[in-house]
Amino acid sequence: MTVVPTAAALNFVGAATWAALSGKPVATDVWTDVHQVPHVHLGQHADLVVVAPSTADLMAKAAHGLADDLLTNTLLTARCPVVLVPAMHTEMWEHPATVANVATLRSRGVHVIDPVSGRLTGADTGLGRLPEPQDIFDVCRELLSRSDGTVAAAGGLAGLRVVISAGGTREPLDPVRFLGNRSSGKQGYALAEVALSRGADVTLISANVALPVPDGVTLVPVQTAVELGEAVAKAAQDSDVVVMAAAVADYRPAHYNEVKIKKTYDETVPESRPSAPTIELVRNPDVLAGLVQSRGSSTVPVIVGFAAETGDPEHSVLDLARDKFERKGCDVLVANEVGVDKTFGEDTNTVYILRRGVDTVTHAGPAPKDVVAATVWDVIQDVLSSG
Ligand code: CTP
Repeated sequence: MTVVPTAAALNFVGAATWAALSGKPVATDVWTDVHQVPHVHLGQHADLVVVAPSTADLMAKAAHGLADDLLTNTLLTARCPVVLVPAMHTEMWEHPATVANVATLRSRGVHVIDPVSGRLTGADTGLGRLPEPQDIFDVCRELLSRSDGTVAAAGGLAGLRVVISAGGTREPLDPVRFLGNRSSGKQGYALAEVALSRGADVTLISANVALPVPDGVTLVPVQTAVELGEAVAKAAQDSDVVVMAAAVADYRPAHYNEVKIKKTYDETVPESRPSAPTIELVRNPDVLAGLVQSRGSSTVPVIVGFAAETGDPEHSVLDLARDKFERKGCDVLVANEVGVDKTFGEDTNTVYILRRGVDTVTHAGPAPKDVVAATVWDVIQDVLSSG
């Protein structure tokens, strides 16, 4: 391990401490030990480059290819996976310049881990805090396992066609309103990223997701459950794996109003309050159950369902997931506990993975969604290789 602090970083921890901890000399500029050409050598020979914490300034430099110190030179010469772990105040993280820089870096394959919410430097709290070291470590371990081929050796997804639904459907009531849910699509998109990195040909059926589209997927944007069902059925026809990570509405309004629904008043009562409308609902198709049915006795494609459960006083999340697994008849079921502050929109997830014919339940998390995604694919690859 080589520590490459920026000049600013040395205001927090001095060079002597880094040198003692890493057992190697520490430099911030490119003019130290020039005979060893460190500004090219470090990046060229690294297996992984991690910048944690990564400032808004560092990411701006990296996005524009600037190279005015040893760290930015290392980033430009690195051919291995690069992980940036931003930490900054919320205003800086949300600034359009930072947002654009992060998008640019991600589009080039740099792995930027989203910051978490919590206490920041100073008295304020908010989004921008460095994730826990264990979470950063888990992402690094996963990236290293991908690049040294151990995951590919366990089966890999090269040459396989994968369909993933992600996000949450919206059922329109009128041109202004819809019935929706809290799914952000982060877990489904993380599944797509991992499948791509393992060599799969990925079709992503995306329902109302505001995230950058992973480079290399075939994107099919949809809005409603019916649209999602049609898109999944079409893409599933010649696929090897279908993962239903989307939160699909079970019901939709029976009638769509072409114009905005207005408040109605009881004309017979002067100054009456508007009366509350009743919305009639009808069932949506169960896309996952339909896939299982149309597959019949074939084992292709492997069908993976998700179970979003809150649990209830009598049943744990796992109890409810086991029931759902029986009902849906899919090959793998990924169950996660959901709630207002749990899972939806968060960067971390905790799941139980159930597999047909296998009693052991695989548990993953709490961990970043891409680490969870990697575990889900490990289980699916096991199913593929045993089937
Ligand atoms: N699903 C589906 N079509 C629906 C509803 C859900 O394909 N109309 C899929 C989801 O994509 C997920 C799985 O079924 O993979 C379970 O979704 P969930 O919302 O947890 O379960 P429901 O079947 O809707 O059951 P309930 O609402 O009773 O928990």
